[in-house]
Amino acid sequence: MQEFFEFGLRARVQYKAGLARELGALVQELAAERAFIVADKGVVAAGLLEPVLAGIEGFAEVVGIYDNVPPNSSLATVNEATEAARAARADLIIALGGGSPIDTAKGLRILLTLGGEIPQYEGYNTIIQPLTPMIAVPTTAGTGSEVTVVAVIKDEDENRKISLASRYLMPDIAVLDPELTLTLPPRLTAATGMDALSHAIESYVSTENNPFSDSLALASIDIIANHLRDAVHHGSNLEARSQMLLASCMAGVACSNSWFGVVHAISHAIGAHYPVHHGTLNSIILPYGMQFNAPVAPERYVRIARAMGVNTGGRSDEEVIADGIAAVQKLAADCGLPLRLRDVEIPESALPELAALSVVEAAMFWNPRDATEEDLLNLLQQMW
Ligand SMILES: [Fe+2]
Repeated sequence: MQEFFEFGLRARVQYKAGLARELGALVQELAAERAFIVADKGVVAAGLLEPVLAGIEGFAEVVGIYDNVPPNSSLATVNEATEAARAARADLIIALGGGSPIDTAKGLRILLTLGGEIPQYEGYNTIIQPLTPMIAVPTTAGTGSEVTVVAVIKDEDENRKISLASRYLMPDIAVLDPELTLTLPPRLTAATGMDALSHAIESYVSTENNPFSDSLALASIDIIANHLRDAVHHGSNLEARSQMLLASCMAGVACSNSWFGVVHAISHAIGAHYPVHHGTLNSIILPYGMQFNAPVAPERYVRIARAMGVNTGGRSDEEVIADGIAAVQKLAADCGLPLRLRDVEIPESALPELAALSVVEAAMFWNPRDATEEDLLNLLQQMW
């Protein structure tokens, strides 16, 4: 166990099917009068704005809705949303959507409160004061961004992802309403679910793992192994959707306290250059990342395998770990996700550059096994 660890418990989490329609009570608790909503066009087209607006009605005025968020939030998006929120004199930000709208809203509340530009806040603990209140309402079960201290925003000019982490970035309240995830298409359900699994597994083996995040990570892995297939293939199954939303949130709390590793490092490097969904990339990379890290933390990979449903009785650790990794890849395959980088049109010729970018990614800092650029090129070639 770590000699020292910190586990944050700042965000409040509320869960209930249909909770979005009761948002007004939370808005009132935050003493907000002018709510500004950040969403994306897909969320609006799916009709998910309606229950949120109905929930706020009579409790606060909705002074603006910004729905121009792309699949990967960018500096230009955050700047545009901030201008709109500032002009509307918003005193509460409500993010409705997946990781991109939630991270956009996090960026927005920094600029709204502190001014300046996002790059000046890059890194850890550069934000040291409370920000405009924020409620996060996830419509996917994957990023966990509703309960994390992290935001990832793309710098389109420099083709890289800017990571920001501060405890003040944590939304004040996370509203978990599984009814909002019922219409998420199978492919996105699968990709976001595998993102959540990568959060749970990476945080469980990270150099910052601790007993609190461990318990959430293992529970999350168990739930995802048992419910992701149902959520993908029977999207209207409210029980499967509820379980996945809880697992995603639990994994979010785990990784917000214990951080990431080689899977997110490679995923961020590729995602900054190729328009492939973050969860899809993580799903491809995860089994190879596990293979790479397993030799330095075999007992942890045995626990992961057990949580994935692998039978451990009378078998060697090596066999159990191999089955655990295979179970993760089989879950991705059963959910219809691609298994190799070539399947998502990453050119083989790009691998050396991607290895060079991955090795300096911030997420590598907490990976349990040190990796050289050559190690990562080797890994990239295996998953290609
Ligand atoms: Fe992720």
